[in-house]
Amino acid sequence: MTLRAQFPMLKAQGEKPLAFLDSAATTHKPKAVIDALNSFYSEHYSSVKRGNYQLSAQTTQQYENARQTVADFFQAQYLEEIIFTRGTTESINLVAWSWGLENLEKGDEIIISALEHHANIVPWQLVARQKGAKIKVLPCDDSANLQIEILPKLLNAKTKMVAVNHIANSTGTINPLTEIIALVRKHSSALVLVDGAQSAPHIPVNLTALDVDFFACSGHKIYGPTGIGMLYGKKHLLTAMPPWQGGGEMIESVNFDHTSFAEVPDRFEAGTPNIAGVLGFKAALEWVKSVGIERIASIEKHLLDETLSKLQRLDGFKLLAHPKNLSSLLSFNIEGINAHDVAMILDEENVAVRAGHHCAQPVMDRFKQSATLRVSFGAYNESWEIDRLISALQRSINLFK
Ligand code: ALA
Repeated sequence: MTLRAQFPMLKAQGEKPLAFLDSAATTHKPKAVIDALNSFYSEHYSSVKRGNYQLSAQTTQQYENARQTVADFFQAQYLEEIIFTRGTTESINLVAWSWGLENLEKGDEIIISALEHHANIVPWQLVARQKGAKIKVLPCDDSANLQIEILPKLLNAKTKMVAVNHIANSTGTINPLTEIIALVRKHSSALVLVDGAQSAPHIPVNLTALDVDFFACSGHKIYGPTGIGMLYGKKHLLTAMPPWQGGGEMIESVNFDHTSFAEVPDRFEAGTPNIAGVLGFKAALEWVKSVGIERIASIEKHLLDETLSKLQRLDGFKLLAHPKNLSSLLSFNIEGINAHDVAMILDEENVAVRAGHHCAQPVMDRFKQSATLRVSFGAYNESWEIDRLISALQRSINLFK
């Protein structure tokens, strides 16, 4: 069975089946994930950590098994280092509002990169404003490579956090994390948070080897359900952090004068969690493991090279930037045609891409664009989708030029 055949949504239907080239926004779900959700709701449904009955004990066990699957997949050292969240955005907010509110002081500095998604900018701005801290930006060059030679000049005793993405969702740049982390360690005592939303689905991530302090990613971009994601944090850091949301199951004891909090990870999982999401996330990671993340990376690299060489033959094609290490997406414009107009024509041909600022307006400003078209790949994409994309782009060029 082909990889694509394992995705019910992508079953060829009609004359023009969906050419789905928007996996950086979200991925489709393999049958294995849909079956896991179905089985939970139709055969095993119950809450976790609350019921005094076998069904709930079994679901609690499955929920904690999922935590183990995530820890193993990303090679975290300890189970308690994995916190389930709603996704990358919530994970970053958790660190900003728990670690940040507790540890930042007036005059402290946070470094973010010029290639960040809004989710790794705005939470830092909000907490910095509250604490009187300052945001500094590590710039990128005209090819969208971070200028890491400038990083030592930005780091100093006031730097408390360096927040950077692993792969930029707007340019596809694979950032040199190992070098960045080594520089941060050498020139400061700052912590490093990595937004891994775009790397987790595409390249192997070994958290222990990387030696990051925090890492965030989303389930729905790695073939899992929406509304689930994870935060990895080094055990000693999470243990020292206060909760950021209060509610059930995150406490040890409560009375009207005082509440003491549960140990991690429960301290950060207030309220009834997204149990189905967690079990679906587990199934998704198992599916990725069964295929092999290296195999997925190689399929996507092949598609990327083929697409780029075909795009380069189109009149007016202009890549937003061409970084040294490019992941599985291409951000570009057709000169003289509005990206949204092109996306509309592509949609008429049943080709799904994203057009816009990709929640990375500072990147668009850096490259003096208001929007781009973005084509992004997943494990299920095939060459015919690229051919359809190219002919639809050619149609747009003929129409608008
Ligand atoms: N961050 C997602 C994207 O890049 C939604 O499309």
